[in-house]
Amino acid sequence: MDWGKKIDELKKQKNAIIMAHYYQDAAIQDIADYVGDSLALAQWAAKTQADIIVMCGVHFMGETAKILSPDKKVLVPDVQAGCSLADSCPADAFASFIEKYPNHTVISYVNTTAAVKALTDVVVTSTNAKSIVETFPKNQPIIFGPDYNLGNYINQVTGRNMVLWNGGCHVHEKFSVQKIKELKKQYPDAPVLTHPECKQEVVEISDFVGSTAAILNYAGKSEAKRFIVVTECGILHKMRQQYPDKEFIAAPAIDGSACNECNYMRLNTLEKVYNCLLHETPEVIVDKELAEKAVKPIVKMLELSR
Ligand code: 13P
Ligand code: SF4
Repeated sequence: MDWGKKIDELKKQKNAIIMAHYYQDAAIQDIADYVGDSLALAQWAAKTQADIIVMCGVHFMGETAKILSPDKKVLVPDVQAGCSLADSCPADAFASFIEKYPNHTVISYVNTTAAVKALTDVVVTSTNAKSIVETFPKNQPIIFGPDYNLGNYINQVTGRNMVLWNGGCHVHEKFSVQKIKELKKQYPDAPVLTHPECKQEVVEISDFVGSTAAILNYAGKSEAKRFIVVTECGILHKMRQQYPDKEFIAAPAIDGSACNECNYMRLNTLEKVYNCLLHETPEVIVDKELAEKAVKPIVKMLELSR
């Protein structure tokens, strides 16, 4: 079955666009109209003229798109594609946590539910977290959630002491320091490029720390000819496409898997993309009142990211 051709026909018929995160299977990235990081997906969703957005990623990405573009139909190929990091921060528990720290600004990573965003002053992604935190005076008390590792990294690079929620991503916490050290020995010329959702001990042995888009960008600009990549291995597809003369080595996980995949992201398939567009389901629906609260910190992020 030529899913790509069939998706293309439907897309034209329905004035739909397909957006995909870098962690999607190569086949999905290749048929998407836009492939990007969490920030870019939100920015594109906010300004698209399409009637339908098919968000190939995980649920919070579809939810963010729907909150930003409430008049559009937002579809996700698999409604089970959640996120362990978003799950590590239930809204009621986060609300009680916030209550313990009066006068604190609440900064939340985009990997959260709409209910958590509704409790937040400003949303960030890993691309803009540092610069947005730095827009606040140094003495401003801040709560940062839900990713502990990202918050800890931002505390270190900005010299802050934000109060951190103790959440994490099961993919990025699974990288093996030992195996990365072995790779470094094997390829001493290869810089280690790491996502800030990784644990501190991994960050400490890295040459560059940044979001998926920042990692991609770094690899393009660097003089190095090969790289050790410490994030979900879906990004290697785009890296190899964009920089065919460079070599990209995926860092292995603790369980030994050479390609550390997000099992939520990988629930999406071309067949599911086709079916969701054909039947216009599963559709992302966000309660109107909740969306009105959640949109404010997302729009604030977009304004601060211009
Ligand atoms: P970025 O694309 O913002 O780097 O985020 C990575 C991620 O884990 C998305 O779920
Ligand atoms: Fe969530 Fe981690 Fe998967 Fe990203 S890689 S969607 S943070 S579980």
